[in-house]
Amino acid sequence: MEQILHVITAEVKKAFMECGYDEEYAKVTLSNRPDLCEYQCNGAMAAAKRYKKAPFVIADEVSGKLAGNAMFASAESVKPGFLNLKLDNLFLAEYLRNMQQDQERFGCEKAKASKTFMIVYGGPNVAKPLHVGHLRSAVIGESIKRLGRFVGHTMIGDVHLGDWGLQMGLIIIELKARQPELVYFNESYTGEYPLEAPFTISELEEIYPTASAKSKEDTAYKDEAMQATYELQHGRRGYQALLSHILNVSVTDLKKNYQNLNVDFDLWKGESDAQPYIPDMVEAFRKDGYAYISDGALVVDVKEETDTKEIPPCMILKSDGASLYNTTDLATIVWRMQDYHPDGIIYVVDKRQELYFTQVFRCARKTHLVKPDTSLKFLGFGTMNGKDGKPFKTRDGGIMRLESLVSEINEEMYQKIKGNHTMDEDEARETARIVALSAMKYGDLSNQASKDYIFDIDRFTSFEGNTGPYILYTIVRIKSILAKYQASGHTVEGAQILPARSESEKALMLELSRFHPAIETAFAELAPHKVCAYIYGLANAFNHFYHETKILTEENADVRAGYICLLNLVKGILEKCIDILGFSAPEHM
Ligand code: ARG
Repeated sequence: MEQILHVITAEVKKAFMECGYDEEYAKVTLSNRPDLCEYQCNGAMAAAKRYKKAPFVIADEVSGKLAGNAMFASAESVKPGFLNLKLDNLFLAEYLRNMQQDQERFGCEKAKASKTFMIVYGGPNVAKPLHVGHLRSAVIGESIKRLGRFVGHTMIGDVHLGDWGLQMGLIIIELKARQPELVYFNESYTGEYPLEAPFTISELEEIYPTASAKSKEDTAYKDEAMQATYELQHGRRGYQALLSHILNVSVTDLKKNYQNLNVDFDLWKGESDAQPYIPDMVEAFRKDGYAYISDGALVVDVKEETDTKEIPPCMILKSDGASLYNTTDLATIVWRMQDYHPDGIIYVVDKRQELYFTQVFRCARKTHLVKPDTSLKFLGFGTMNGKDGKPFKTRDGGIMRLESLVSEINEEMYQKIKGNHTMDEDEARETARIVALSAMKYGDLSNQASKDYIFDIDRFTSFEGNTGPYILYTIVRIKSILAKYQASGHTVEGAQILPARSESEKALMLELSRFHPAIETAFAELAPHKVCAYIYGLANAFNHFYHETKILTEENADVRAGYICLLNLVKGILEKCIDILGFSAPEHM
């Protein structure tokens, strides 16, 4: 379906042309004075110069042309030369009926040119528990992936595990200190290694921090870990077998955690998967003259003339020949291009890594790892702060584990919901989980991603205001009206959305008709907060209508059935939008 703004614009263009003016002046926008009109066109002001007429004369002529047009209830010219438009109620109802025909997409057409994007988010580190810093990447990335799919693109989500580097060596030597008899440490062993890992996830999560703390105190210990890392990276069998155990145990646990957040990935690739691509890539950088030695290290210059601040060279290999975080990100681009041919790669990472990604992207372009038209986009997000405005911490000042945060908010929600006497314990727990997820995700997504925000459990879990629970509450309210309508033996068969009978109903219908542009803009700008803003407006419009209208007690059966059709559409669109945001609504609350 054509977007409603385009349908209106086409009609206004026709009127401009019929009056002898160029159609370029017929630019229609959403009204900035909703008290006066719904849409507006200021084109007569601009046309006045070219046609050497008073703007009001032009606006008046066009308004005359539009008089009696079935699309408009009124098309008024106002001094000095504005055109104020109000839609005809039947036209609007018909537009919504068409949207409703399509229960999947509500008439929202797919992007004309479907593209393939790889989206890199999550970024957890193996053997380290997820902490709140990983929440934003997961939540924002997941919603952009879903948004892109709805718009009609192929979106491939990759978790990009941090599974390479010293942390592996640390785990290995700590394990060796505890269980030196394990076969993995016997260098002369040539047989198969056990299938079962020699540790559980909770042991692993204890081993790493212990080892990491020790290495900070004890240089010999650290050297040993570095040596183990080196041997692991250079093919020592026993260590590689341990690495796969670490990966398996860790990934199983990560998957469970992400599943609780309703987040999933198409690819579980990690930094280690990029390593085989490094030697050839580096060789090519050298051969093509992009890389040179500076202070012993191999670097590629990435500064540009127009830079206003210093962009340091991209370091490829350290003086000891070791590769870096950069090198891995570049080599990852190599396999991504080879295996998936994406039109673009989107990175959802903490905005403090912005300069780093500027270097990586420039280096990838300069060395032709990507095609000139491959887009590389950094979506940097701000910090999640506590109420004190400082990065979110546990009560005793430690790093907050994501699991603890989730339990805390689930518990808070459970306490609120328990008061609902119609629910048994299990249902209350499950409902609390669903609503808590909306509180957490909406609390994050409703902010512009690049901004820092304050994680305020009290506010996020409130059923009032711009919150996830408020949106769910609205959906649950609609579900309950629909259920009562059905229970009373009525059906909507043969019924349809009718022209609005009140201001509040019309306002609700106008909001509904703006679903398509809201979604399109949100994806174009990679801005899930625009989906939140849209549904908040829609939920408000619905609740206003609900408070002013007798729905189930409406006596006229056709009018009543028409309301029910309208409610179905509101519910469908709200549910579609929260699905895009990555959460769902319960049956009751
Ligand atoms: N693992 C990293 C961290 O925990 C984030 C990875 C970001 N993504 C990337 N392609 N570098 O900070």
